[in-house]
Amino acid sequence: MKTIQHLFDNNKQWAEKISQEDPNFFQNLSEQQSPKYLWIGCSDSRVPANALLNMDPGEVFVHRNIANQVIHTDLNCLSVIQYAVDVLKVEHIIVCGHYGCGGIGAALDDKSYGLIDNWLRHIEDVYRFNKDKMDKITDPKERINLLCELNVIEQVANISNTMTLVNAWKRGQDITVHGLVYNLQDGILKDLEVSSNDRKHYFTKSIG
Ligand code: CO
Repeated sequence: MKTIQHLFDNNKQWAEKISQEDPNFFQNLSEQQSPKYLWIGCSDSRVPANALLNMDPGEVFVHRNIANQVIHTDLNCLSVIQYAVDVLKVEHIIVCGHYGCGGIGAALDDKSYGLIDNWLRHIEDVYRFNKDKMDKITDPKERINLLCELNVIEQVANISNTMTLVNAWKRGQDITVHGLVYNLQDGILKDLEVSSNDRKHYFTKSIG
């Protein structure tokens, strides 16, 4: 059996380094978390939320899945959003995609990847909703990158239509949903400027 002793060694070094800088860091953090941000990003190992936001433990509540999707029936993601909004009272929800996303690329090619094909089917829906824009582009990489952006915009709409956000905004909670894309090549985040602090931005039907 292969061991992961090197990970325990890394962990010890990391914890010691932080404790040297701030001896009370872990004690203070263990008593409560009060992050202002919920990050919904891709599982891709190259897009670590805390690291690229230059934030310490305790500063960002994180949910990640393949191709940063917010599916209306995904109880995992919906529970994270509900807890972040209703209990932690985050002020911002950030959906962050990344250019060159493998999940988006897989949704665009004709190969089968097994179970995950079902998960990626939602990305194919985003393609279908935006077929006119997508079909104007022929370069495969550009098509993936455009769909990365369109997917983020779709997820901002999905979040804005969750019961959690609809009810939070109805009771006057000040919470803004943002759509971002991360560039693996230079480490820079791009704001897609689709921020929403009211359901009317992504209104689909009348609820209450
Ligand atoms: Co990805």
